[in-house]
Amino acid sequence: MTATRIGVIGATGAVGTITLGLLAERGYDHVRAFASARSAGGRVRFGDTELLVEEATPEALGAGDLDLCLFSVGTSASRALVPHAAAAGALCVDKSSAYRLVDGYPLVVPEVNGGRVHDALDRDRIVANPNCCTIPLTCVLKPLHEAAGLARVHVATYQSVSGAGAQRMEQLRGEEAAEHDLVMDWSWQGDESDEEAKLRAETRKILEQPELPISATCVRVPVMVGHSEAVWVELEEDLSADSAVEALREAPGVRVLELPSFPTPAAAAGTDDVLVGRVRKDTASEHGIALYLSCDNLRKGAALNAIQIAELMLAGAAERAAA
Ligand SMILES: NC(=O)c1ccc[n+]([C@@H]2O[C@H](COP(=O)([O-])OP(=O)(O)OC[C@H]3O[C@@H](n4cnc5c(N)ncnc54)[C@H](OP(=O)(O)O)[C@@H]3O)[C@@H](O)[C@H]2O)c1
Repeated sequence: MTATRIGVIGATGAVGTITLGLLAERGYDHVRAFASARSAGGRVRFGDTELLVEEATPEALGAGDLDLCLFSVGTSASRALVPHAAAAGALCVDKSSAYRLVDGYPLVVPEVNGGRVHDALDRDRIVANPNCCTIPLTCVLKPLHEAAGLARVHVATYQSVSGAGAQRMEQLRGEEAAEHDLVMDWSWQGDESDEEAKLRAETRKILEQPELPISATCVRVPVMVGHSEAVWVELEEDLSADSAVEALREAPGVRVLELPSFPTPAAAAGTDDVLVGRVRKDTASEHGIALYLSCDNLRKGAALNAIQIAELMLAGAAERAAA
């Protein structure tokens, strides 16, 4: 496994830094770091050592000497770079929006629809990693859907600044507490933010429920790491709060907390699970369940989910080679 030649593209960024840490922890040792020309020639930490940062160019990524490329560079850079790595034979996991909603490209949360990676192995080896709020949301919606059928979802998010990248983290570090405020720093599509639209469209694609009604309000809060979501789920059939807890307890990647404990960004930061709590009947709807979740957006919301996708792709590719 450790012989896999891996490129981390966006290695100087918030997600890339965590990606390098997780790869080192998992024992991968043939890892190269790439970023833009701005940081080429610098160094980034990789376990107990450092890696030289190379410039991510189509030529460098298309040279055919990488087995796996993990991209966290933003949508336009992904569109410019991913096809070259994939054409040269690398398995590619892209964390931007470039491929998420494009037909034919799998959008994968391993615990929810991991089998979809095979679609990419049949095609051009590119898998998209969802938005950092979509990932934990689908991890909790899937078991509830299997238990009683999803009819409608309302969600309010409380997203940390690390979701907007390393520069925003620096900005928060430099701010006085009195300057902290909620922001809605998204682009707008009419009266809806692109973040809200993404959360709906990506959730529908992953759950393969193209008509599922989902209404979201997304807000960024002055927290460094860890996204939280208040979720109201209307189900097709009645489900008691106890049965909902039981279904969530059995769901992979989900950890249920019971009062007086409840999910917080600080509790989620640095951990791999989606923390779920406050699971209760939603008395405002007929078959409603309300819950609250927190998740480390840089780990399960980005870097970890992408590595889990990559490991499924590597296993699938190895099986095919052996067949
Ligand atoms: N942060 C999250 O929680 C999160 C979660 C899910 C998905 N994502 C997605 O992951 C991507 C990166 O997010 P981030 O938060 O890590 O951003 P970030 O901290 O701003 O880092 C961006 C990285 O991309 C590199 N980069 C930028 N333009 C490039 C180009 N043209 N060619 C090569 N490298 C380039 C930067 O290199 P330089 O240092 O050289 O500028 C840096 O390494 C975005 O698409 C984001 O939507 C982020």
